[in-house]
Amino acid sequence: MKQSILLTVIFMLIAGTCLAEPPQRDPDELHPNQVAVFMRAKLEHAKKLLEGLATEDYDAIEKNAQQLSLLSLASTWQVLQTEEYVRKSEDFRRATDDIKKAAERKSLDGATLSYMDMTLKCVQCHKYVRSVRTASLQSILDRETGK
Ligand code: HEC
Repeated sequence: MKQSILLTVIFMLIAGTCLAEPPQRDPDELHPNQVAVFMRAKLEHAKKLLEGLATEDYDAIEKNAQQLSLLSLASTWQVLQTEEYVRKSEDFRRATDDIKKAAERKSLDGATLSYMDMTLKCVQCHKYVRSVRTASLQSILDRETGK
């Protein structure tokens, strides 16, 4: 008798564990991760673009330039809601579109020049994002220290 009660309890414990809902993740906790994955995709396309240029593979150049252009339109791209960020995004998109157009004309030099221009835009936007972050950190510090 004792044994069967024990078995029932063990059974219920196991069933309870199996039926329990998986722990829900906090959406805010997931978000930064998703942004990082999204942002990293740019690097993958930029690398493939360089490979396309180095091997004169116009399909690869066109495809990856197009992907980069599309990424810049996605909502996950819109990390900062400033005019400057929007402008930087447009500059970037223009460079990727120039790469694509040059590839369509089979102009390897043109595509390479626009690739360099695009790379500048990557770096310039990151510099800008860092400066905004530093500035907002500074204003929090100033507020805390009563400046
Ligand atoms: C208009 C702005 C803008 C442009 C242009 C841009 N990025 Fe970014 N990038 C961002 C922002 C915003 C982040 C996220 C920064 C953060 O939240 O820490 C980011 C993050 C990244 C990261 C880091 C992801 C991680 O692991 O956290 C990589 C890699 C990256 N970008 C690559 C590129 C490459 C390559 C290009 C050009 C082909 C590019 N980006 C162009 C805005 C831009």
